[in-house]
Amino acid sequence: MQSFTSADKRTDYCGTLTAKDIGRKVTVTGWCQRQRDLGSLIFIDVRDRTGLLQLAFDDTTPEDIFNTAFGVRAEYVLSATGTVRSRGEAAINKNLPTGEIEVYVESFKVLAEAQTPPFAIVENSDVRPELRLKHRYLDLRRPDLQRNIIARSQIVKLTRDYFADNGFIDIETPCLIKPTPEGARDYLVPSRVHPGKFYALPQSPQLYKQLLMYSGFDRYLQIARCFRDEDLRADRQPEFTQIDLEMSFSDEEDIIAMNEGYIKYLFDNFMHQPLEIPFPRMTYKEAMERFGSDKPDTRFGLELCNLSDLVAGSGFSVFAGAVADGGSVRGINVKGGAKFTRKEIDSLTEFVKTYGARGLAWYKNTAGAPTSSFAKFMTPEEIAAITERMGCEDGDLLLIVAAKNTVVFDSLGALRCEVAKRMGIVDKSKFNFLWVTEFPLLEYSEEDNRFYAKHHPFTMPMEEDLPLLETDPGEVRARAYDCVLNGTELGGGSIRIHTTEMQTKMFDALGIGAEEAEEKFGFLLEAFKYGVPPHGGLAFGLDRVVTLLLGLEDIRDVIAFPKVQNASELLSKCPAAADPSSLAELGIAVVAKEDEE
Ligand code: AMO
Repeated sequence: MQSFTSADKRTDYCGTLTAKDIGRKVTVTGWCQRQRDLGSLIFIDVRDRTGLLQLAFDDTTPEDIFNTAFGVRAEYVLSATGTVRSRGEAAINKNLPTGEIEVYVESFKVLAEAQTPPFAIVENSDVRPELRLKHRYLDLRRPDLQRNIIARSQIVKLTRDYFADNGFIDIETPCLIKPTPEGARDYLVPSRVHPGKFYALPQSPQLYKQLLMYSGFDRYLQIARCFRDEDLRADRQPEFTQIDLEMSFSDEEDIIAMNEGYIKYLFDNFMHQPLEIPFPRMTYKEAMERFGSDKPDTRFGLELCNLSDLVAGSGFSVFAGAVADGGSVRGINVKGGAKFTRKEIDSLTEFVKTYGARGLAWYKNTAGAPTSSFAKFMTPEEIAAITERMGCEDGDLLLIVAAKNTVVFDSLGALRCEVAKRMGIVDKSKFNFLWVTEFPLLEYSEEDNRFYAKHHPFTMPMEEDLPLLETDPGEVRARAYDCVLNGTELGGGSIRIHTTEMQTKMFDALGIGAEEAEEKFGFLLEAFKYGVPPHGGLAFGLDRVVTLLLGLEDIRDVIAFPKVQNASELLSKCPAAADPSSLAELGIAVVAKEDEE
């Protein structure tokens, strides 16, 4: 191993050299991708974040340099100085941007040796995720991950440019804040100075960005880190990043237009492909009725069909009973799905069961001899009415769920996506953006026997629904909107309440009494007294934006150091036990849970 001197400093990145550089003397630095020893010839592919470059050593190379090159192994850190030359017609590698050239090495150093890494540093490697994450610094050497992380940085820069150009001011809000009772679970941080008291890490900068509007900043943007202690999925992390913005003296039209402009800006400057704006819009109600989801993937059909009125009086108790209990019976027509085997239908039945459905009724229309799981319980007329409404033709498969509405929507909403995936009918080249509007303001929790805010408790109800707030709160629609892309919620926002009167009504609907409101949100109510402008905003999930624009599926692939399913980080091994003296200082005693004892 040799020391690093000014002579070893890079003049060029490996992947940037081309035939235009032939004859130049250059110095490159990086990692050995592979060393090939052909006796009197040695080739080393050296890699940096821009790509690979071939270094060549031959029998005219000074012996000490040749011997050093001979000992080089994968992932050794190198500096090489030499002359760029053509590889010659026969040796050209068309798969490599630098494939026409090589550097004939005149001076060479090993700056660090390396053990054989636990997995090869190659594109799209299918190594176990746990192993990759344990050695994330090696995983991040892979060209595909490097591209993702660099793309993320470019998207962040474009985001800042666009919003700055539109008069947004970048303001940081605190990360140690008051615990919030609504939404997901908070991550709590104990206070040493105030024993027994806690900060929370922000689930979003929501209240602070509203306060900034009260202060007159008018347009705010923050690339903000957010923390939510919730169950992880492929599109969720316990800490993630929002592109968070707020605008004063604006209504939903202004906010939607500003954000469509932003997405278009990313398509112009990052994706380099056209994008049509404005995006289509759909009310929450329509999205649920047609797609069983408030974030519908509109790249394929398989829309839901309501059969409740047709089957309510039928002799099939599963169907009739669901309707009688206030639920519904709905289905999807899988065009050409009659080819699905019983085994495949059984696996779809298991699939819907994970969404709470008790079963999946099916009807296969095969050349004049239909088969079905439920036809024997119904009259031919009832069956005919169902097949007619669902537009069932020869070769089609009808899949039907009968249950309470939430289960029907959840299971069929997921089933249509699953079936589309299995049939390979999702056009991956499409970017189907959509605004979903008119969300319900409140959501009833049967478990807690109370309403919760669907977005958050500061969202403005729709004016025409205000009378319902006292009589039928579940029917009140909110001035809230989500930006959906190909079945993923990319962002969401709302127009905010900006008067004490309205906020008090909202707290009443949520069952938050005056005392509790004062204790939890007193500062907000106090601020309302001093002149608050009408305002609203939105936040995109940055991780999701980058993931979808890059055509990826897992947000971990665009986060440098992500956490795994159980919220731990495998590299540094956190969370970890705290030092007893730290706990004592904080006045905290850890009580072991029974199952861990
Ligand atoms: P919301 O809770 O809808 O709204 O969040 C906005 C966006 O943040 C992203 N997101 C996540 N991304 C990764 N992992 C998570 N655990 C996660 N949770 C949310 C999603 C989502 O659409 N303060 C409001 C915004 C507003 O009203 O202005 C808010 O946080 O892409």
